[in-house]
Amino acid sequence: MFETLFTPNPSVEAKVSIRPRKGVIIGAGQVGMACAYSMIIQNCFDELVLQDIQTERLQGEVMDLIHGTPFIGSVNIKAGTVTDAGQDADLVIITAGASQKPGESRLDLVERNVVIFKSLIADVIKYCPNATLLVVSNPVDIMTYVTLKLSGFPAARVIGSGTVLDSARFRTLLAEKMGIDARSVHAYIIGEHGDSEVPVWSKVNVAGMPLYNEQRSPSLDNANLNEIFEHVKNAAYEIIKLKGCTSYAIGLATTEIVKTILHGQERILTVSNLVNGFYGIHDVCLSLPSVVNEKGVIKTVNLTLNDTEQQQLIHSAQVLRDIFDKLTL
Ligand code: 2OP
Repeated sequence: MFETLFTPNPSVEAKVSIRPRKGVIIGAGQVGMACAYSMIIQNCFDELVLQDIQTERLQGEVMDLIHGTPFIGSVNIKAGTVTDAGQDADLVIITAGASQKPGESRLDLVERNVVIFKSLIADVIKYCPNATLLVVSNPVDIMTYVTLKLSGFPAARVIGSGTVLDSARFRTLLAEKMGIDARSVHAYIIGEHGDSEVPVWSKVNVAGMPLYNEQRSPSLDNANLNEIFEHVKNAAYEIIKLKGCTSYAIGLATTEIVKTILHGQERILTVSNLVNGFYGIHDVCLSLPSVVNEKGVIKTVNLTLNDTEQQQLIHSAQVLRDIFDKLTL
């Protein structure tokens, strides 16, 4: 139809010299679509494939995103699966699975989501053998461990969104109290992305000045600090009660991890990954501040935790270990 509009270049070769950055998002629900929208407006991929069992709604979601591309630059968005359009993706982001209902904990979702993952991971292994896998589905630490065991991929490239969002919430609420920008507050939540998560108070700092130090009490009183952490830990429950799910913030947090991987940024993020002996913790996936680049999680920060934080992290690891031990994969 448009042959006369263009003159083809006769020297073009069949082989592709620069591989387009390709991602697949498995699960096009509220979280998956928030991830997709955030990733296309931040220009993460050249090709983005959305996969979902609800194929009709998926077509609508893809059409709706495509019609916005003139406003954001070129990205090739398709409905498909890892077995067709998504083959050989660089990154497979998994948001599929049951999500929390009001009052449900993330751990309540385990049985349902393990069944779903068992059906998904076989195709991911076969058609995207070199991909980095980024798990978002909850309970994310459990599902990251399940993905690691089912895929047999190197642990470095089986990553969970972990407490990246919790650390962002922590920084946001602390920053509000201090009257500064959240990006100027350094604060980490580690352990389970869930009820046993751990605030690393001893390392919270602003411009290198610790919130706690021997000479002075915290610049915020303890009641205030505990209230802040409770809001961080329970944020998802509060939001789910009000709007039925969380989506935008987890979409942005997941996009931050994707950008760090695709651009090889060596950023430190509290992603969930297999722990190898940190404070005696083994064979469990949980979040610690880790350096992430195009190879995945390349190293973990050897945080020096105070006694309370150590005990809480070991408890968090045990909560997850107890769940893993009951799994039949
Ligand atoms: C969140 O924390 C539900 O895990 C999700 O927003």
